[in-house]
Amino acid sequence: MTSFHDAPREAPRDEPRLPDDVTIAGLRALAERLAREAGTLVRDGRPERVEVAATKSSAVDVVTAMDAESEALLRRVIAEERPDDAILGEEEGASAGTSGLTWVIDPIDGTVNYLYGVASHAISVAVVAGPPDPAEWTVLAGAVHSVVDGRTWTAGLGAGATLDGEPVAVNPAGPLATSLVGTGFGYDADRRRRQAQVLVEVLPRVRDIRRLGSAAIDLCLVATGRLDLYYERGLNPWDLAAGALVASEAGALVTGLRGRPAGSEMTVAGAPDAARELVRLLESAEADSDDRR
Ligand code: IPD
Repeated sequence: MTSFHDAPREAPRDEPRLPDDVTIAGLRALAERLAREAGTLVRDGRPERVEVAATKSSAVDVVTAMDAESEALLRRVIAEERPDDAILGEEEGASAGTSGLTWVIDPIDGTVNYLYGVASHAISVAVVAGPPDPAEWTVLAGAVHSVVDGRTWTAGLGAGATLDGEPVAVNPAGPLATSLVGTGFGYDADRRRRQAQVLVEVLPRVRDIRRLGSAAIDLCLVATGRLDLYYERGLNPWDLAAGALVASEAGALVTGLRGRPAGSEMTVAGAPDAARELVRLLESAEADSDDRR
């Protein structure tokens, strides 16, 4: 990217070149359709009792049968509508394409909430241009569909962000001390130990902390003014791509620490002045390092 919407809005990147038959509005509409269709499957197909089908990076990083079914649906519709595009999905990984566009999909973001029947889980669908590398691609359009209540955020690059069709905007920057801050924790015990140390620095300096359990929704809540700020270390591209575009198109600065772009190392989002204040705090807490203090 110029990547995960690290750049402040006052310094826009060059527009990527799109294939001839493609518009940002068309990609945004397809991202929304995909997220809604998968959301209907996840909502209506919920079994009486959800089971863990497998674990990934640790015993608490779970996959359910519905993660796989939702990703299969997304892949099927993308293959029908945009057969030459590549796909990067949480469950099945990367499949190559020839168009220069890649769909970055999280079939259920907030799988632990889905497992327990807790509300905050979503389908996240983004489409990016450029190499299939988060450090180099540009997110063109995205949609985040909240499964339980059907709220759907969409955004197009340079075209703003909406919630259920209505424009959204971040809260104006306020002092950190009265900011409501969302965050999340990784699945690895050592990472979590470090994240708890960072939290010790952050919690006394903010209004309060929310750990809601879906990074995609957290970023959309920043976009909608339901959270002032959000930060998290360890996000994957599929957690981040759509929600980061929604947040940045709603006026957020979405960035990493020490001048680096948002990404796995660290993602911070919020009204630019407030986000910069949180960045300074996180830098002083060395929140982008896993080394014990
Ligand atoms: C997770 C959620 C969670 C965040 C984790 C993500 P998943 O995604 O977004 O809020 O804290 O970092 O991995 O595993 O449910 O798709």
